[in-house]
Amino acid sequence: MKDIARPLLLGHLSIWPPFVSAPMAGYTDGVFREILREFGCPYCCTEMVSAKGFLLGGDNTLEILEHSPSDRPLAVQLFGEDPEIIARAAAKIQELEYKFDVIDVNMGCPARKITSQGAGGALLKDIPRAQAIVRALKGVSALPVSAKIRLGWDDPGRAVEFAEALYDAGLDLLVVHGRTVSQGYSGRSDWDTISEIARNLPIPVIGNGDVLSPEEALFRLKSSGCSGIMIGRGLLGNPFFFTGLTRFLESGERPPAPSFDEKMSVAAEHFRRAIKRYGERRGLLEMRKHLAFYFKGFRGASRLRELVNREDSPERVLEILEKGWRDAL
Ligand SMILES: Cc1cc2nc3c(=O)[nH]c(=O)nc-3n(C[C@H](O)[C@H](O)[C@H](O)COP(=O)(O)O)c2cc1C
Repeated sequence: MKDIARPLLLGHLSIWPPFVSAPMAGYTDGVFREILREFGCPYCCTEMVSAKGFLLGGDNTLEILEHSPSDRPLAVQLFGEDPEIIARAAAKIQELEYKFDVIDVNMGCPARKITSQGAGGALLKDIPRAQAIVRALKGVSALPVSAKIRLGWDDPGRAVEFAEALYDAGLDLLVVHGRTVSQGYSGRSDWDTISEIARNLPIPVIGNGDVLSPEEALFRLKSSGCSGIMIGRGLLGNPFFFTGLTRFLESGERPPAPSFDEKMSVAAEHFRRAIKRYGERRGLLEMRKHLAFYFKGFRGASRLRELVNREDSPERVLEILEKGWRDAL
């Protein structure tokens, strides 16, 4: 099994196994990333950060950038539409006490508040601007520069041309989510086009979209010609994904799905760390989203979700996660 996958090489980084966590705003904060690392995730990316917001000193952006020293290698993801502002932000980020390994630009976000500024997925409509951003970043960055794209705004027909244009501008790594911006999350990720991009580009390409199991991750790696695979929603409530992958790579065997007991024990640890990081009130709110995913797929999940959403006391929620869930099932 091992021989079908090779480490993903990027500058001085060697990422093994070549399966990485997707950035997901509101979910892949430092707390969740640390848990993913403990299960074997070799590479992560921060939630997206506004380049302008960071330069203006927004507290929220600084909070997104904070991470523990063990949370490496780590990409920082910036969004913006102005090449000079993005480059200034990248230069300043490299002076922070928190160290990063890759500078990534978001060129795929479909949220209207981002695209209406000409940022995120809107860059797919403007090749010269997207290239100017990559060039500006290469001018200030001692780190590899990556971009995370979708296949186009509403037509995947120019995806290869866009990818090649970024490569010409000096890009070091490309991540491709196989949907157009106008598709949102509907339909299926188009792995044929992802594969066409991977086979045309001389730099590493990471494919992304709808990978929900270790078997699928390995199948996509083998069949697409990508250097790596990125997993997003499949990790929510499921950091076990990486143990499954490692085991599958080493022995070809799929380990049994985690028991509810195991899931609740990881959820409780996630919860404790979130409360420590954000305080009681905010930690509780942040964790409600995650807990819904940890409960998913088990009999009694909706009852448990209701129970924890009604609780205002972190101690009570922790009690439910540690043992009270048994009575709720
Ligand atoms: C809740 C949520 C937040 C996301 N936030 C970001 C983000 O900040 N930056 C980004 O590039 N992509 C973001 N994405 C897109 C994911 O990184 C990924 O491309 C997408 O979910 C498809 O992969 P999947 O099918 O494995 O989930 C987000 C997706 C979700 C579901």
